[in-house]
Amino acid sequence: MNNDFLPINEDQTGTADNQLLMVPFVDNGIFDQAKKMAGTVVEYRELRMMYSCAIKEVRTKFDVLNSEFNVRYQRNPIASITSRLKSSSSIMEKLSRLDVPFSVDNVNEYLHDVAGIRVICSYVDDIYRLAHALAKQDDITVLNFKDYIKNPKPNGYRSYHMIVSVPVFFSDQTRNMKVEVQIRTIAMDFWASLEHQLKYKKEVPDQQEIVDQLTECATQIAQVDATMYELRKRIELAEDEPTEEDLLLEKLRRIDLATE
Ligand code: GTP
Ligand code: MG
Repeated sequence: MNNDFLPINEDQTGTADNQLLMVPFVDNGIFDQAKKMAGTVVEYRELRMMYSCAIKEVRTKFDVLNSEFNVRYQRNPIASITSRLKSSSSIMEKLSRLDVPFSVDNVNEYLHDVAGIRVICSYVDDIYRLAHALAKQDDITVLNFKDYIKNPKPNGYRSYHMIVSVPVFFSDQTRNMKVEVQIRTIAMDFWASLEHQLKYKKEVPDQQEIVDQLTECATQIAQVDATMYELRKRIELAEDEPTEEDLLLEKLRRIDLATE
């Protein structure tokens, strides 16, 4: 078998020509390893592409839900959506933390957060409405969920997490890909972002006091979320019964919205 990457063909080893070329001895084991690595690199790049497509699938589902809620309830439950593909160094680091060797199969089997989507909502009830609407879609399988809103972490972290599996259709195959979905309010996101930044600043004097105050902030933020939700409910209840003219105008407005 001829291979351009090899300076020497194994069959020719020891011939007069090769001795003249003074080609150093090439261990066939290295060739096998290189071949394996090249194969893995190609497979790994494909895998990243597949996870990135899975992100697009789930993101579109949330975009669709947002548009639908907008037309039905005249407000957007989603303030923003961000997504990220786990970096290769984080993938390696997590696998080694799990004491699992790197391979494309192991990434698929052991990591659930290669594809990540964060959905930021205005109100707490929107979180559950969106989570429920996603979970009941025919092509979505919820593999796992953690409700850190009903059960906040000891440090005060709040968010609703789901690991879902979504089929992604490629030209020659359909792959079920895992996506980590985090749904939280603007207020919860504000806290989590700042806490995340502060976590990296080590060696701070009176660290325990800072940790305690952060937890206290999380409690206050949760109270603000609850109050905002109550206010919205009160405003919704107090709204006047719409007149016939209001209803007609609303219908016309919805026609415009539906085609945007
Ligand atoms: P990881 O191994 O870190 O992915 O955690 P896990 O598999 O135990 O899952 P978990 O649901 O607890 O956390 C997943 C993700 O939620 C993290 O990668 C963070 O993005 C976020 N998260 C969890 N806990 C905290 C926290 O205390 N503070 C902040 N800022 N984010 C958190
Ligand atoms: Mg993670």
